[in-house]
Amino acid sequence: MAILVTGGTGFIGSHTVVELLNAGKEVIIVDNFSNSKPVVLDRIEKITGKRCKLIEADLLDYDKIENIFKENKIESCIHFAGLKAVGESVAIPLRYYHNNITGTLNLLDIMSKYGAKKIVFSSSATVYGKPKSVPIREDADLYTTNPYGETKLMIERILSDLYNSDKEWSVSILRYFNPIGAHESGLIGEDPKGIPNNLLPYIAKVAIGALPCLSVFGNDYNTHDGTGVRDYIHVVDLAIAHLHALERAEKVTGVEHFNIGTGVGYSVLDIVHAYEEAIGEKINYKIVDRRPGDIDECYADPTRAKELLGWQATRGIKEMCRDSANWQKNNPNGYDS
Ligand code: WQD
Repeated sequence: MAILVTGGTGFIGSHTVVELLNAGKEVIIVDNFSNSKPVVLDRIEKITGKRCKLIEADLLDYDKIENIFKENKIESCIHFAGLKAVGESVAIPLRYYHNNITGTLNLLDIMSKYGAKKIVFSSSATVYGKPKSVPIREDADLYTTNPYGETKLMIERILSDLYNSDKEWSVSILRYFNPIGAHESGLIGEDPKGIPNNLLPYIAKVAIGALPCLSVFGNDYNTHDGTGVRDYIHVVDLAIAHLHALERAEKVTGVEHFNIGTGVGYSVLDIVHAYEEAIGEKINYKIVDRRPGDIDECYADPTRAKELLGWQATRGIKEMCRDSANWQKNNPNGYDS
């Protein structure tokens, strides 16, 4: 019986497929390549020695997705596929709601039809909005500040309602904090289109001279050095969390939410200094105004994941920066290199 990984050639999806294959699981990837490339499958094969099935399809194409279930024995799904740029979601909200919500509704309807009632869903700490206190527990208030985050919260609620209507479902909702880094091989990593929105890929491009200078968005936040604090987690630790979540979903039914972070907050300047140490060079940066919508600090209380999933992050900020730099050095133009 196979595990269907939607968005499995993306940044977190590809790292998760590596861990699934290394664990001897049968994997089928479905991806529309809107934010990734088919070559990722070759890189996954180089790392694992295994080549899984890859089907190009969009979750909005109901019939094509149903055919995957007709032609393969699928027992569970890890659902990554979705648009995920916060700023873009504010500019084109209808595209985000249609793509993320309708795509997920199609997937869940087909999974129900074919009796595949185990799902691990890629959610985000963005559902906590501006937390009242840190570290953040799973029972913290939920509210969102952008359409992207709203789609994540809506899907969490859709999954709860689905379980309430059919108690055979096993649903594991993973709320990611800030995934960074890359597989130690340097063969797969984060390959954002155009100018990176997120901190690490931006720093990585400054480090190789592809961008001239990092803009640090504000140093007047209520944090130890005034710059924004986040819970950065190594993408391989995050990938491994999905295996633990899947294994739990195979044993229990119900809906469970987990904060997937390290529980440690680092500021922007902490990251800059850690990156400089990892590469042995200075990173050129300047302090500029705050980015609208940014919050002072956000980091997880990952106790629940440790207790119920038997998972905790093991890679520290040094490995995250080292592996991010290694990926960027080996792939200056990402997968186009
Ligand atoms: C981190 C810190 C910035 C870029 C976002 C999404 C979230 C999730 C993870 C999907 C902040 C600062 C950044 C730069 C900077 N994505 N920064 N200069 O905003 O915490 O979270 O990505 O689920 O939904 O909101 O991540 O990497 O953009 O920012 O100073 O060029 O780095 O102000 O303090 P963020 P980020």
